[in-house]
Amino acid sequence: MAGYLDRIGAGKVLLDKAPLSYDWVPPSLIGRDEELDDMAGIFSQIQNHETSCQAVVMGPVGSGKTVLTRRFAEDIQRHLEGRRKTVITHVNCRNHPTGPQVLQQIALSLDERHPERGFSPGEIIQSIRRNLITHDSHLLLILDEADILVNRDQSDLIYKLLRIDEGKENQGTISMILVSQNLSLMKLFEPAIISRLGQSNIVEMQPYNAETLTGIASQRVEIACRTGSVADETLTKIGQFAAESGDARMAIELLEAAIRRTEKDGRGEVLPDDVRPSTLRKASLEPSSVDNLSQHQKLSLLGICRRLKKAEYVSSGDAHKLYLLVCEEYEVKPRSYTTFWKHLKTLETEGLIETRAANTNVGRGRTQHITMNNTAPATIESRIEREFLRG
Ligand SMILES: Nc1ncnc2c1ncn2[C@@H]1O[C@H](COP(=O)(O)OP(=O)(O)O)[C@@H](O)[C@H]1O
Ligand SMILES: [Mg+2]
Repeated sequence: MAGYLDRIGAGKVLLDKAPLSYDWVPPSLIGRDEELDDMAGIFSQIQNHETSCQAVVMGPVGSGKTVLTRRFAEDIQRHLEGRRKTVITHVNCRNHPTGPQVLQQIALSLDERHPERGFSPGEIIQSIRRNLITHDSHLLLILDEADILVNRDQSDLIYKLLRIDEGKENQGTISMILVSQNLSLMKLFEPAIISRLGQSNIVEMQPYNAETLTGIASQRVEIACRTGSVADETLTKIGQFAAESGDARMAIELLEAAIRRTEKDGRGEVLPDDVRPSTLRKASLEPSSVDNLSQHQKLSLLGICRRLKKAEYVSSGDAHKLYLLVCEEYEVKPRSYTTFWKHLKTLETEGLIETRAANTNVGRGRTQHITMNNTAPATIESRIEREFLRG
């Protein structure tokens, strides 16, 4: 089954859907020159072997933390070409929330045959170090959503990585960029870590204003759409709406929904009227937060997303029926109602859905109304569908 983006595909507006996906890194960033300059300042000595640099990037959801670190890492890697060989490893701690998991991801990124078991953290760290020295490489490690790791791991791993070269012959093995949505990240650290990270190495990102958000939407349009297919007033309106949250993800989402609406009508120009505030939800969760759910949790969520694209809420009874339909579609045997109920509770704990008791108690007596306030159902839907397609 194809995702909704595949269904539009008539190509009256959209030529390439990739630039509308969240993982796509644009060739340049809109309105982040100052932050990129700050990063360049922090890494100004990086061409010297034996040197490592540390930065902390903080800001609210959708302020471009992830894309900034990706853009910067690729830029600096290219900049250092021929002078210092740099490898980039990006670990999202939401998907790998424990110290051993993060370490495993780093080891795997350097050597895909790295064994899964049998080594202590200290041994893995030293094998990472050996690998880098053997290949004469410097590791630029991005720990995205680092607050999740720090909260679980008491920053032990970060401390160990910061001290990786201590008392050793070669220095400057790893540079690190810590990314956090939580502005009090630094408060979670021991003084020893703070002094190693350096107070002056913090880059704080502010939410975007309307003008920049219009620019971000406009950049996607230039790369993804037919020339002249999106009116300037449309982009202005997207910027204005998205400015309520300052979240760039919202701008891209509004644009995508407007394009979808236009193409569905068989029209070739996206007009301001196609931008609907009803699709405006506060996206405070990363779409990738669904990746770690179990298969049946995803199937339960998929059913809910499909309904919530069109409706304000879905009752728990309906959500169950939708789950059964989804199971049928993907030819998997549904779990019991009790298990489904447990899945709903997990989805709620993860912040993916909200539930509240319905006023009318018919049938099972514990009817709940389910809403999604932190994410956009269409985005989650296509993410889950894409994964099942691949799987
Ligand atoms: N300055 C920018 N220029 C172009 N695209 C941006 C910019 N900032 C954010 N985006 C895009 O907006 C979306 C959300 O940005 P992201 O880096 O994931 O935010 P955060 O990590 O802070 O939540 C991504 O698709 C990203 O490519
Ligand atoms: Mg991010």
